[in-house]
Amino acid sequence: MPDLNVHLGDRGYDIRLAWRALDEEFARFASVRLPAGKTALLSDANVSPLYGDAAQAALEASGREVHRVTVPAGEGSKSFERLEGVLGELLHGRLDRSASLVALGGGVVGDLGGFAAAVFMRGIPFLMAPTSLLAQVDSSVGGKVAVNHPRAKNLVGLFRQPVGVLVDPATLVTLPGEEFTSGLAEAVKTAVILDGALFSWIEDHAGGIRSKTPDDLVHLIRRCLEIKAAVVAEDERERTGRRSLLNLGHTLGHALETAGGPSRFRHGEAVAVGMVFASRLAVETAGFPPAEAARVEALLDAFGLPVRIPEGFEPGTLLEIMRADKKNLGETIRFVLPRSIGEAELRGDVPESAILPGIEKMMA
Ligand code: NAD
Ligand code: GLY
Repeated sequence: MPDLNVHLGDRGYDIRLAWRALDEEFARFASVRLPAGKTALLSDANVSPLYGDAAQAALEASGREVHRVTVPAGEGSKSFERLEGVLGELLHGRLDRSASLVALGGGVVGDLGGFAAAVFMRGIPFLMAPTSLLAQVDSSVGGKVAVNHPRAKNLVGLFRQPVGVLVDPATLVTLPGEEFTSGLAEAVKTAVILDGALFSWIEDHAGGIRSKTPDDLVHLIRRCLEIKAAVVAEDERERTGRRSLLNLGHTLGHALETAGGPSRFRHGEAVAVGMVFASRLAVETAGFPPAEAARVEALLDAFGLPVRIPEGFEPGTLLEIMRADKKNLGETIRFVLPRSIGEAELRGDVPESAILPGIEKMMA
């Protein structure tokens, strides 16, 4: 039985979450959700050697012909060039409109693979098998698929929902420590915007989470996915402002990623700095209690996430990049600001006079 469902009518889908689900349940999960044609198994150079053979065997168990496509690991693969390369490989493997794609990996493989599937032959079904914490708590659900433009992150993309998501937290055992930590930022984000009880639970279980205790990981991921699925069902295309809340910390975060390039910040790390910035702005302009802002910063810091902008960034440049953020309306920079832990809102009324000095105060 699937654990969760993203309720989107005929675009709705199940999320299966279980320890060792990749080994024990993937064959059945995929066989009833993917068409019988060829299947591209997209992964990256780190994940493919670890989990690619098991995933391929599961797909082949239902008689499918599997075409493996492996991209270099890292954010650099969310590029036009890599997209073209993946599409070229699908053509080379003679995949046609009856084909499907499985994205096995972190958020990069999910975003790139979903985008490739959405545009190949005007769209083939795809299934997400996320293997990083970030992808398991956030990016694999919701259908935002994209590649980066050199001038801004995720600027070229689509909303295209997968046909299913299979989450196996046991894969996190091999996830490098910094990548695991980066994913924790998105989990903390989910709690700050929509679930104060989850935030307290994370504070109380920080040790078990850090040591990757199965029960704690499953609980954390399940609650984040429940929240994400509900938000996506309410506002699939980010029209009402509800889904925009998931962008807490992303306004400055994306600017840091764009200005610094992938080598300076992992996505979750940049979001962590952005959350501290948003919390401080919220204290100044949205009545967020200072003690709650301090809790947010303390939790991120306790997980080893960055909470300041390091040397080498220019506040004016970051502000300019923030002006191109997708949440903005015209010239107004819009921020997601917490009102309390567990409640946030999208605000377009942050005075310009608070933004630049706010960035300057975040410099290490
Ligand atoms: P990633 O995909 O680059 O994965 C991080 C690293 O971990 C990579 O080196 C990868 O090879 C490795 N890895 C993944 N799983 C592994 C495993 N089980 N064992 C060993 N190594 C493993 O990065 P990410 O942090 O997963 O995702 C970041 C991306 O997600 C960014 O591009 C961001 O913009 C995007 N994102 C998208 C959404 C969305 O809604 N679509 C939401 C949040 C973030
Ligand atoms: N991660 C933001 C969203 O899915 O909307």
